[in-house]
Amino acid sequence: MAAVKPIQKIPISSLERLGIVFNIENKSQGIQENLRALSNVHVTGVVLVFDVGIFVHIVEVQLMRLKDKVAIITGAANGIGLAAAERFAGEGAAVAMADYDADMGITRAQELKEKGLNAEFFQVNVADRQSIDSMAEAVKAAFGKIDILINNAGITRDGMLSKLSPDDFQAVMDVNLSGVFHCTQAVLPFMLEQGRGKIINTSSVSGIYGNVGQTNYAAAKAGVVGMTKTWAKELGRKGINVNAVAPGFISTGMTAKVPEKVIGQMQGMVPLGRLGKPEDIANAYLFLASDESDYVNGTVLHVDGGIMM
Ligand SMILES: NC(=O)c1ccc[n+]([C@@H]2O[C@H](COP(=O)([O-])OP(=O)(O)OC[C@H]3O[C@@H](n4cnc5c(N)ncnc54)[C@H](O)[C@@H]3O)[C@@H](O)[C@H]2O)c1
Repeated sequence: MAAVKPIQKIPISSLERLGIVFNIENKSQGIQENLRALSNVHVTGVVLVFDVGIFVHIVEVQLMRLKDKVAIITGAANGIGLAAAERFAGEGAAVAMADYDADMGITRAQELKEKGLNAEFFQVNVADRQSIDSMAEAVKAAFGKIDILINNAGITRDGMLSKLSPDDFQAVMDVNLSGVFHCTQAVLPFMLEQGRGKIINTSSVSGIYGNVGQTNYAAAKAGVVGMTKTWAKELGRKGINVNAVAPGFISTGMTAKVPEKVIGQMQGMVPLGRLGKPEDIANAYLFLASDESDYVNGTVLHVDGGIMM
């Protein structure tokens, strides 16, 4: 059973779209049974019903937005990817946590399993096509299909242009740009086969506006936007949506390396007055992975507290 999370309030009109209509005769217990019969609704145990006029207007349920979906999340052993793995599995997905870091990945996947979530670790180096192909095959063998790919793995090797080494330039391109290309190409046949899929790429505020000391990172993340829009055009008619998320400054291991003074300056740039949390980005991934975004394609969703407007 999925972890119990905060219950959402949803209007009866949403339930009607899911195929159930309640009348005033419904008692709470009966409604719970009706909801349990629905494939994409998970009842957390308590359903509160408020009657207004002759219709029930609000019930409290937890929607399972990714029930029966299989999602690969790269870079899922830490930070944003880990938050996304937990969020997706909590919404009913089988999650393949694909990461280079096996020690952390195995431990984190085990922790999610102990919470009753469906998550498995798969080791991959997204800079190595052979490793990616093996991972994609292993996920298909374990879970039977691949519905969602979150290209989240990423690294930084910052340096001012005058000092940036060609090796550091290339390393970031290999993971942050080529990695996205190779993972998507490896997974694409499985999505084409079923005529449906969701691909979500991770760009960055640096890729949109540039950032001092990040020639390599900004170039790769801008390239991700170009690939996203191209694939959205190529794959839309084949039932595959391709979108990107551009996070702002998010508190993870990646930003932990940044000096405190610079973090303070970053925070000062954010109209919401705080750095983002990994969960803020996981929520955006979730929207773009769920059926709720079926008509969203080729978009770059900025999740940055309003840094640049
Ligand atoms: N944290 C931020 O402020 C921020 C801002 C904008 C964009 N992003 C992007 O969000 C994504 C996640 O970043 P994060 O902050 O969670 O970083 P993180 O460093 O916390 O996690 C990155 C994960 O990617 C994995 N990884 C690195 N290289 C890999 C490889 N070659 N193969 C497989 N896995 C690999 C790491 O092991 C790690 O688990 C990245 O693409 C990053 O560029 C982050």
